[in-house]
Amino acid sequence: MIVSGSTSQVLAATLSRELGEPLASVEYDRFPDGELLASVPGFDADRAIIVASTVSSDAHLEVLQLQDAVREAGASEVVTVLPYMGYARQDRAFETGHPISARAVARAISTGTDRVLTVTPHEEAVCSFFDPPATAIDGERHLADALPSALENPIFLAPDEGAIDLAETVRDAYGTGDVDYFEKTRRSGTDVEIAPSDVSVASRDVVVIDDIVATGGTVAEATAVLERRNAGHVYVACVHPLLVRTAYQRLAAAGVHDIVGTDTIERPVSTVSVAPSIVDQL
Ligand code: R5P
Repeated sequence: MIVSGSTSQVLAATLSRELGEPLASVEYDRFPDGELLASVPGFDADRAIIVASTVSSDAHLEVLQLQDAVREAGASEVVTVLPYMGYARQDRAFETGHPISARAVARAISTGTDRVLTVTPHEEAVCSFFDPPATAIDGERHLADALPSALENPIFLAPDEGAIDLAETVRDAYGTGDVDYFEKTRRSGTDVEIAPSDVSVASRDVVVIDDIVATGGTVAEATAVLERRNAGHVYVACVHPLLVRTAYQRLAAAGVHDIVGTDTIERPVSTVSVAPSIVDQL
């Protein structure tokens, strides 16, 4: 049975259809003191596939409760699918006294599962933080499908060197175009400084590609640089459209023409489904 966290109900339903496995009925309650209670009253299967993007601390807790609930209900195999793994960007202790938060949450999730699948984690190395086998699934390979088919002399641009592989994957899937990257320095949680490369973008359509768009600061700054250099239309393609706070407004104000993302996080821009890539692993 497919068991959906509250954050991943559309993707869970898609997986249920594609796998031909029933979707469990899940209830998400909250006690007056704020504590959560996620439950699966009618669960009845040997295998549970829990699908939940851990976009918040509550979502993390929900995963732990669902894992426990399906074991209680008799599941002999639990697969935990984290379409978006929260806390993955905290993959090291940045200062003395800091936790490795990605490892802490991975350890907790490990206690209730036989296997973990996660889509394009910020660093693939976070998979080693899980005790049971954990697999990173490539969520970017279908992003090109959502781009216009006739981009003008396109360039696929990563806002930092870390995203260059993503840009290459999307360019290869699109079939034509150059790839380049900017140098990024993060000034704060919301502000970044982008140093442009020498690449010429005048009158060319640009696709800015990143794994996550959160506050939109990185992509907005890249777009501002591109606008100053008279680029054509600027598109944004990301695997995880977290889009917190005023991110949409920020991107629109910066001049982004369109944004496409996947359904690892359910937002209006989540037009590309990672379901086929997850099905391949189940
Ligand atoms: C960081 O290295 C990631 O790849 C993204 O660039 C970052 O998470 C984007 O965050 P924001 O949208 O807040 O700039």
